[in-house]
Amino acid sequence: MTIHLRVREDIDLKYILDYDRYKDLALEAISEGQVLLENKENTLPLNKGAKVAVFGRSQNHYYKSGTGSGGMVNVSRVVGILDALKESAASGDIVLNEQVLSFYEKYEEENPFKEADGWANAQWSVPEASLEDSLVKAASMSSDYALFIIGRSAGEDQDNSLEEGSYLLSYLELDALKKVRAYFKRVIVVLNVGNIIDMKFVKDIGVDALLYAWQGGMLGGLGTVNVLLGKVNPSGKLPDTIAYSIEDYPSDKNFGNPNESIYEEDIFVGYRYFETFAPSKVLYPFGYGLSYTDFDLSITDFRVDPLAGSLGLDVRVKNTGSLSGKEVVQVYVSAPQGLLGKPARVLCGFKKTSLLAPGSCEVVSLDIDFRDFASFDETSKCGLGTGFILEKGEYRVYAGNSVRAMEYASFELMEDMMIEPLKNALGPVKPFKRLLASGEYEDAPLRTDTQKARRNAAIPALIPMTGDLGYKLSDVFDGKVTMEEFIGQLSLEELNVMPRGEGMSSKLVTPGTAAAFGGIIPSLKDKGIPIGCMDDGPSGMRLDSGMHAFSLPNGTCLSSTFNTSLNAELFSMLGREMLKNKVDVLLGPGMNIHRHPLNGRNFEYFSEDPFLTGKIGGSQILGLQSVGVTGTIKHFACNNQENGRQVCDPVVSERALREIYLKGFEYAVNMGADAVMTTYALVNGVYTAGNYDLVTTILHDQWGFKGIVMTDWWANISDEDTGASKTNFAAMVRAQNDLYCCVPGATEDVSDNILSSVEDGTLSIAELQRTAMNVCAFFEGKAVMKRLTEKVTVELSGASEEYEDTLPEVSYIPIESETVIDLRGIDCSKGSKYYFGTEIDYSYDYEITLTGTGLPGNELAQLPVVFYSNATPLFTCTFRGNGKEASVSNIQGFYNRLNIMYLYFTLGGVELKELRFKRIEK
Ligand code: BGC
Repeated sequence: MTIHLRVREDIDLKYILDYDRYKDLALEAISEGQVLLENKENTLPLNKGAKVAVFGRSQNHYYKSGTGSGGMVNVSRVVGILDALKESAASGDIVLNEQVLSFYEKYEEENPFKEADGWANAQWSVPEASLEDSLVKAASMSSDYALFIIGRSAGEDQDNSLEEGSYLLSYLELDALKKVRAYFKRVIVVLNVGNIIDMKFVKDIGVDALLYAWQGGMLGGLGTVNVLLGKVNPSGKLPDTIAYSIEDYPSDKNFGNPNESIYEEDIFVGYRYFETFAPSKVLYPFGYGLSYTDFDLSITDFRVDPLAGSLGLDVRVKNTGSLSGKEVVQVYVSAPQGLLGKPARVLCGFKKTSLLAPGSCEVVSLDIDFRDFASFDETSKCGLGTGFILEKGEYRVYAGNSVRAMEYASFELMEDMMIEPLKNALGPVKPFKRLLASGEYEDAPLRTDTQKARRNAAIPALIPMTGDLGYKLSDVFDGKVTMEEFIGQLSLEELNVMPRGEGMSSKLVTPGTAAAFGGIIPSLKDKGIPIGCMDDGPSGMRLDSGMHAFSLPNGTCLSSTFNTSLNAELFSMLGREMLKNKVDVLLGPGMNIHRHPLNGRNFEYFSEDPFLTGKIGGSQILGLQSVGVTGTIKHFACNNQENGRQVCDPVVSERALREIYLKGFEYAVNMGADAVMTTYALVNGVYTAGNYDLVTTILHDQWGFKGIVMTDWWANISDEDTGASKTNFAAMVRAQNDLYCCVPGATEDVSDNILSSVEDGTLSIAELQRTAMNVCAFFEGKAVMKRLTEKVTVELSGASEEYEDTLPEVSYIPIESETVIDLRGIDCSKGSKYYFGTEIDYSYDYEITLTGTGLPGNELAQLPVVFYSNATPLFTCTFRGNGKEASVSNIQGFYNRLNIMYLYFTLGGVELKELRFKRIEK
């Protein structure tokens, strides 16, 4: 069990976080992520001086992201589409119709919309305003363009639904669109959405220009308007197929069941289904997106090297239009049907050109691994054993700017080829039928062996337990001792603590973050194991302390850029921001496949395609790692719906897992991803948090993963023999899931079964040692390791002041030996702050106890309330949505007699009762 440590370049001690550059990169990413789907008679870009009437109530409610943990970045401001349009109007670029603007402003005053408080309660959209014909008619006389904004949100614990205002347009939206269409010659629709929504209106009502703007983070509106005005020529491409109707998606009839989801469409997900079986049901194909210029693409060189298992092609891209722009070259392979059956096309490569001036050309070279289009033969149908194989026959390699690419070269394989032999793992146990390329269904092959047998055959050897020999973790990284010698020093008590993530809002790390791990007790810290800090993710830092952070565009927008280097560079800025806040591990990127448009968390994820998902996610990880932090690829795997997310069992064939649902993760692991989060739920009957096949057989053994694996927050664990449990840490460790996230205190009794399982022989100490090794090895080359001995500083430059808070004036409450502040009835709504001053005798410490109730509805709900003193977050009390009164205490000392304090309600959804200060001796 020797761990081979990777030699990484040493990280710097000093970084510069230039907020101007950060902002520029974010704007570039938002603009490049805008997908233009219609542009009749060059409606866009808007010319200088264009007269525009902005319709749709969403203009005053920009969605910077979806909801849940991935949407909780506290920002100083959000620049929505209307804000950015107003800026453009102020600088004379366009003229906005004031009458229509004041109609919507007045409507807001008269019909105020308040987002519901708490976790997973946000509405999918803002109810639309009813429009009078007369207003639209008058507007059409003074404005040339109607720009209609439609907004949608969804998120964690809250799937979209097939209802008006969610997937479907509401009656009032359709009515308003029809009116606008009736009077305006030019109608532009902009979709500020996290998911694909029903697009029938495009055909039924008709639009001249249509832009998927996604959710662009705090500066989203600026990026969208850059495209509307032609300051940036759009180059975004669809990461998902848009079908005419929701029923057209092959997963539709199995989506949403909270207990079980049968993946009967098998490998035919997204365009793999539509291009094979139903091209006519596609409204906009995968990879599609217009530009304001035209490009001509042709294959100029094609190379195949069957021995090396690779092919290469050069594609010449010529800008034949009259504006500068970028194009995305996409390469798809169509494999012979053979015995296994194949999707019509599979994305195997993409590259974005540089900005090409009219008339200029660029030759884009792409190298493609045979593995990228190989099929997984799970039953050795082809007689070569199980694994990734290519069947003999003609392979067509298409290059173009969408999945409908026409230009192709081809080659022939004379024999079947085994590309990578792999032993079966993680297959289904429940019988079900799956779709074949012929359109027929067959019984999916079932797992015949057990995970348990595999684990029993591969228990690592015990490392002799030596007790403390004085070795520090840095001695391992300096090559003075082996990792085994270091780990041998750990006692059973220490090994028992190692799999714990402490949180949320552990005092050991940055206030308001998700978890601390590693050296979370003094004896581990003494051995030089740093305390790592994890934090959501994925689109910026979630600081429940109420501190501001930069919020980035959502995952879908970032993948629509098809630009890996831009993603890497943007995330290197986020990495610097993490360093500044002493955050080491971002809980993102989200890498689940967009299996169905209604999955609430699609906004955090990238695409229906695993290649795009893997390459974009992997690039973000590389960006983070370039400055000594990292990201977590989550949720491993099949987190494809939120309904029933704690109990739903995806029943999925091994082939679909290998080719679709695991593959994006595999690409990211190959690119160096070193942290993985499993899901709340199961895959094929076993909870992922204890799933040996998923985490050990596939991730570690078959993919060669080096790093940490963590559970999702308070997830259930099981193995083949046990039911769901939040305390079966033994099953988790056996599976090599290293960290239970999270426990309230490192040394608190969490009633887990590690020690009892060691005692009864169902968990070996060697397995605990292996987990400790995974965690310790993870720290190599990270800034957190450096911080143990030296200071890692981040110097701010650019407009950093845009991200700061200001405090209001308050009066001071004298704090006696025991003082209770009555909090009943205070405003606890999302984003609000309850300020108060205190006059304190600071020769004492104080036990501060906050009592309140998380509103019932969802026991996994995380409802943070943050206690600030003098602009410094001191601690966070996270209530659970269980309707039970709870008290959280903290001991604090103060330096000042007068203190300005406030409670910050990150999400709302709580009712507070009181805050008690009790004096104690220092
Ligand atoms: C989410 C994770 C998130 C974690 C910590 C969970 O509810 O599923 O994606 O990283 O909470 O906030």
